[in-house]
Amino acid sequence: MDTGTFIDEIARRLTDYIHSKDEPGQVNPGQPMNSLRRVLDVQVPVEGHGINGALDDLDAFISNSVKTHRPEFMNPLWGGLSLPALAGEIIATATNNSMYTYELSPMGTLIEQTILNRMCELVGFPDGFGTLTTGGSNGNMLGMLCARENALPGSTKQGFDGRNMAIFVSKEAHYSVLMAANVIGVGHQNVVKVQCDEDGRMRPDSLREEVAFARQEGFTPLCVVATSGTTVRGAFDPLSELADICHEEHMWFHVDAAWGGACLFSNQHRSLMDGIEKADSVCWDAHKMMGVPLVCSAFLIKRPSILRTLCGHVTTAHYLFHDAAENEDLGRYSLQCGRRNDALKLWLEWRVRGDAGWAKLVDGYMDRANYLQKSIEDHPSLEMMSSRMWTNVCFRYDNGSTEIPLNDLNATLRHRLIQEGQYMVSRSNVGEDVVLRSVISNQGVDHDILDGFLEAVVRIGDEVVAGMPPRA
Ligand SMILES: Cc1ncc(COP(=O)(O)O)c(C=O)c1O
Repeated sequence: MDTGTFIDEIARRLTDYIHSKDEPGQVNPGQPMNSLRRVLDVQVPVEGHGINGALDDLDAFISNSVKTHRPEFMNPLWGGLSLPALAGEIIATATNNSMYTYELSPMGTLIEQTILNRMCELVGFPDGFGTLTTGGSNGNMLGMLCARENALPGSTKQGFDGRNMAIFVSKEAHYSVLMAANVIGVGHQNVVKVQCDEDGRMRPDSLREEVAFARQEGFTPLCVVATSGTTVRGAFDPLSELADICHEEHMWFHVDAAWGGACLFSNQHRSLMDGIEKADSVCWDAHKMMGVPLVCSAFLIKRPSILRTLCGHVTTAHYLFHDAAENEDLGRYSLQCGRRNDALKLWLEWRVRGDAGWAKLVDGYMDRANYLQKSIEDHPSLEMMSSRMWTNVCFRYDNGSTEIPLNDLNATLRHRLIQEGQYMVSRSNVGEDVVLRSVISNQGVDHDILDGFLEAVVRIGDEVVAGMPPRA
């Protein structure tokens, strides 16, 4: 097969895949791993299958994938498929420019700088900069590493004993903070989980108490990681008050806005992050609410010199970095060496939408989340399980007359929903309660989809209560 025919074949598959989101079909192929292993040949051969075989392999892959582009997909904090970003992803892969130096990624460097500078402006870091990372988890880790270098200048080079350091997060913060505490040498046990209020926001009074207690116990408070948009409930910590405490206590203030950062585009909703300009660093995932394909995530810092120190490698990498390009090479702000161009897809999407388009996206998602919440509140067999600040809608089925414990009932319901394959939604906990956590973060979601989703939840809940077996 010649190159043109092969590319045409791929383009046809892409078109079919994109159109399939509007046709009747499943989100979840729903094959258990054992049976998938039995029916699929995924071995790497000794003698290659040739290029025609690649098309068959891709067909098998597409049909066995979770259809994250369908509007019925509401499971994690991302979903949908946007064409400009997809085009950027494809071209970034085809051109394969690595982001470490301007020499090897000329326009990519300008684009990434532009994106980072604009995100810094939105955050309120006029002299800020940053880097694109592999996700909010790494963004949180970079924030904590910068906190370390800031508290103990030179620790990047000399090493660090973090056993008497304490890091403060809310009880509802993302688990990546624990992972990062390990990597930076502080350890899981020294991450203090601060009490939240009833809406899931970190309580400033509890933070003050925990910091005082840590000092009393001989710990040095290193940083606070606040969350703008918690994973389960979508809560936004009160940044301004937390920042003031950090400044008084000389702690680094990092904000995990992986999920909620997009609110900054919206005049209606940006007040959720009031005080963000007082932070030292922020992470913000464009691969969540902004719908850019995985991965695309920014780490932003108010004083870029700290990030640069952290990533400084002096003259070791003489084969890549030269003094003449000192102010051009983005590899001086990254812990990675070879690095994908994740900026192109975000930039392309941004050029198509503009700031106004992002604002519309966010406002539209909030409207749909309001609609979903209202539909739940109006339904006799459904109940909201948390207040709402963002597009996370946590609820459960309860028809009020079942002997089945509600946690078991809702866990079974969710399992059956996923097995039926028409909708995908996350199972989470709010306190001790099992809830269905749906999020509006997928451009295809409209009122009809949400109505159909709730109908499916109620139908399955009724079937579980009636002792009916799962549908085949
Ligand atoms: C609040 C929050 N922070 C960080 C992360 C981690 O982001 P990533 O998956 O991009 O590493 C998540 C992921 O869902 C999240 O919800």
